[in-house]
Amino acid sequence: MLTAALLTLLPLLAAAPTPSADALNPYPDGRRLTFTNGSFKLAHFTDLHYGERGANNGWSAWGDERGRNSTRVMNDCLDDEKPNFIVFGGDQTNGENALKSNATAYLDWAFSPALRTQTPFATTYGNHDHSVYITHSASYDFEKNKAQAKALSWTQRNLDSSVDPEGSFNYYIPVYADAAATVPSLLLWFLDSRSGVFTAATNPEDWVDTKAASWINSTAASMKAAWGKLPKSLVYVHIPPTAALTIQTKDVNPNPSAYPGINGEVVTNQGKRAAAFNVKNPELVFWNAVTATLGGVDGQGLIALTSGHDHYNDWCGRDTGIGPFTFCYGRHTGYGGYSDLPRGARLFQASLDARSEVDSLKSWIWLENHSTQNTNTLVQQGKTTLLNSHDPKPNKL
Ligand SMILES: *[C@@H]1O[C@H](CO)[C@@H](O)[C@H](O)[C@H]1NC(C)=O
Ligand SMILES: *[C@@H]1O[C@H](CO)[C@@H](O)[C@H](O)[C@H]1NC(C)=O
Ligand SMILES: *[C@@H]1O[C@H](CO)[C@@H](O)[C@H](O)[C@H]1NC(C)=O
Ligand SMILES: *[C@@H]1O[C@H](CO)[C@@H](O)[C@H](O)[C@H]1NC(C)=O
Ligand SMILES: *[C@@H]1O[C@H](CO)[C@@H](O)[C@H](O)[C@H]1NC(C)=O
Repeated sequence: MLTAALLTLLPLLAAAPTPSADALNPYPDGRRLTFTNGSFKLAHFTDLHYGERGANNGWSAWGDERGRNSTRVMNDCLDDEKPNFIVFGGDQTNGENALKSNATAYLDWAFSPALRTQTPFATTYGNHDHSVYITHSASYDFEKNKAQAKALSWTQRNLDSSVDPEGSFNYYIPVYADAAATVPSLLLWFLDSRSGVFTAATNPEDWVDTKAASWINSTAASMKAAWGKLPKSLVYVHIPPTAALTIQTKDVNPNPSAYPGINGEVVTNQGKRAAAFNVKNPELVFWNAVTATLGGVDGQGLIALTSGHDHYNDWCGRDTGIGPFTFCYGRHTGYGGYSDLPRGARLFQASLDARSEVDSLKSWIWLENHSTQNTNTLVQQGKTTLLNSHDPKPNKL
């Protein structure tokens, strides 16, 4: 039905002299995400690792107990923070442990807090979501067709964005000021950093497919043509880019007081495993598209790129030498996966000015003891920046 309706519509859209702004709403059913009274709040849950088992894949009750704990953490966060939207940052499942027969069933556990609170969500997939007993495609098929919360999922598959079908979960969601706005105020981008524990070593890539770069560029060009500008962007991808390692080495390690948060392990960046295959910095192609195209010449278009993956890091850092560009870690949310720290989530809250452009955006860590800490200002008076609650002055680099 939907496809037939869309096919009838397409010639009309193509024939129109100027594309309507709504033609770029990637949701064929016309649904749109909006600010509420000029405010939009997003919760980023990452590295849940549902479906763990004991040594030698032996069954152990603690795996499911950890899963129930992860669900509790998310429920508590949603009750405290009441976000408009949830981003699942990847590694929802622990695909090298979860039973093949019911690995995807854990996604119902993962999405149950969204279902209970009727909060819409989008997912990025992680390396553990593409592992022995699960794939990104299997996760997506379950999420869209079988999950109890499927109606709340905004995740999209975009085969034009990658050579590797398992790296095709690259998509964007426009966030509009209200139901009537024709140009979005904020763009959320979701990129697929692939990877995993493979049964065959044929496909070791742990970086965003290079084809995603041309897709980002052509999509951004269409947006500029239709909207007359590119709204500011937040980008979510599971494995951090190499730039995060640069920021850690150059900025965060030498000056920890300027970057409050946990800095407990070396960044495991995209392309790290590529060296063994004689491939050097393969993620730079996608990276250039993110910074040059979405960031724009002055870097003002890119608010931040956020990753998970490294459970012992939850800082935000910024470097004016590359970009300027802000990178934030999420906070490890799941009881699954390595860590002995309190679990939590990263929150983002944006507000608009009179022209419906992002005027302010703050981000902070919510913890499972119901406290919050380390509030960073990522946009102030319309300008991207990084100011933190410990340091009221811009970080000098
Ligand atoms: C939005 O603002 C109006 C007017 O101040 C208020 O009545 C309404 O409750 C607000 N809506 C939400 C969801 O906060
Ligand atoms: C579940 O959470 C509780 C409370 O934090 C903790 O005491 C317990 O050890 C957790 N269980 C597992 C298996 O991690
Ligand atoms: C998967 O199957 C195992 C073994 O029957 C069971 O203990 C576990 O709870 C199941 N998990 C889900 C999410 O259904
Ligand atoms: C994407 O566009 C940027 C400039 O905005 C350019 O630097 C980059 O090379 C382009 N990437 C591709 C793959 O075309
Ligand atoms: C919550 O946990 C954090 C991290 O352990 C700690 O710094 C903070 O004092 C705790 N807050 C409360 C209210 O217990």
